[in-house]
Amino acid sequence: MGSVNVSEEYMNIAVLVSGDGSNLQALMDAEEKGGLGSGKIVLVASDNHEAFALERARGKNLETFVLEGSGYRSREDYDRAMARRLHEARIELVVLAGFMRVLSGFFIDEYKDRILNIHPALLPSFKGAHGIKDAYESGVKITGVTVHFVTKELDSGPVILQTGVGIEENDTLDTLEEKIHKEEHRLYPEAVKLFTEGRLRVEGRRVRIRRRDVDGD
Ligand code: GAR
Repeated sequence: MGSVNVSEEYMNIAVLVSGDGSNLQALMDAEEKGGLGSGKIVLVASDNHEAFALERARGKNLETFVLEGSGYRSREDYDRAMARRLHEARIELVVLAGFMRVLSGFFIDEYKDRILNIHPALLPSFKGAHGIKDAYESGVKITGVTVHFVTKELDSGPVILQTGVGIEENDTLDTLEEKIHKEEHRLYPEAVKLFTEGRLRVEGRRVRIRRRDVDGD
C-alpha cells in the first residue's frame, strides 16, 4: 500500500476510541509487558472529547487527537482529516477499540488490511452497536468475542481470532458484559501481536495464522 510509511524498528499504532477505553487500557498494559510485539501505540484518536479513553491515554502520556464529527459535511471528509493526522504520525496499524463511527471506503482503502476491530459477539452473529445485549436477549447459550480485519461491509471482514463465552442460567446482562470484556482484554492484544509479528495472511475470507514453531521464529 503506497500511502503508508513503514518504519523499521517499531510498528506505529493508532487506537481509535469513542467511550470507556477498557480495550485501550488492555492494549497499553500489554505493550508495557512486551505483549504487542513490535507494536507501539503512538496516537489515541477519538470522535468524542468526553471519552474516558482519552484520560486513560493521557495517563500513559500518549498523544491524543480529538476529531468530532459535527464539523464535517460527509463521512469521507471526516475520514480524510483523520487519515491526514494518522499519516503525519506515520501510523502503520489502526486499531478500533470501541470506535463507534462507521469508516468510509476511502479510509478503508487508505489503510487496506491494516485496520483491526473488536466486536463483542461471535460474528457473523449479532453485528452492530449492541452485540452483547442482542445476544443476551436472543436467548443463545454461547456468544463471544471476535477480532477481525475491517472491510467495507460492516462487521464482516476476515476473522482473526474468536473466543466463545457461555451464557449461563444465572447470567444477567451485566455479568455477561463483564465476561465479554474480560475475554476482549485478553484477545485483542494477542491479535495485535500476531499482526505486528507478520504472522497473519488473508486468503479470501480466511485468515491464516503462521505458527511460531513452523518457521522456527
Ligand atoms: C467493546 O465491547 C467493543 O467490543 C465494542 O465496544 C466496546 C468498547 O469498550 N465495540 C463494538 O460494539 C463495535 N461494533 P471499551 O471502550 O471499554 O474498549
